[in-house]
Amino acid sequence: MGAARWWLAALVLAASHAAAAPGQRLQKQGEQVYERCQACHSLETDRTGPRHCGLFGRRAGSVPGFAYSDAMKHADIVWTARTLDRFLANPAKMVPGTTMTYAGVTDAGERKALIAYLQQAARCKPQH
Ligand code: HEC
Repeated sequence: MGAARWWLAALVLAASHAAAAPGQRLQKQGEQVYERCQACHSLETDRTGPRHCGLFGRRAGSVPGFAYSDAMKHADIVWTARTLDRFLANPAKMVPGTTMTYAGVTDAGERKALIAYLQQAARCKPQH
């Protein structure tokens, strides 16, 4: 094994490390933003708001047994990074009549971090 190969290995390692770090920082920041949501939500169980496990790709208003507003049930939204970004900026504007009485996350950077966090965290399975 020559010096050139060693350098290549070191470069690849350095590059992958540099790529991972900002993503992890963003998720960490998002985890802190999510603390605001935990007044009403948790990942695994329904509380005042529905559980967030399995959120991505799920239709709005579709957790079985959760008492959604008619507005949310009929919103015709599938939760993706894009739809969540719009909803979280101003919930009542995107879904007029929603019972999520929360002003929203007005800072676009905070929404981005929150969504990056949820894309990982919401891969969990609900408890029942
Ligand atoms: C004051 C309580 C409260 C807070 C705080 C809150 N929510 Fe909610 N959330 C609700 C309620 C209640 C619903 C159901 C709304 C409906 O049926 O109209 C909901 C619904 C949702 C939905 C739709 C879920 C689905 O299954 O269709 C998402 C996504 C959501 N909230 C994300 C968030 C995020 C992210 C935060 C933090 C930034 C947050 N919420 C903060 C109460 C809250």
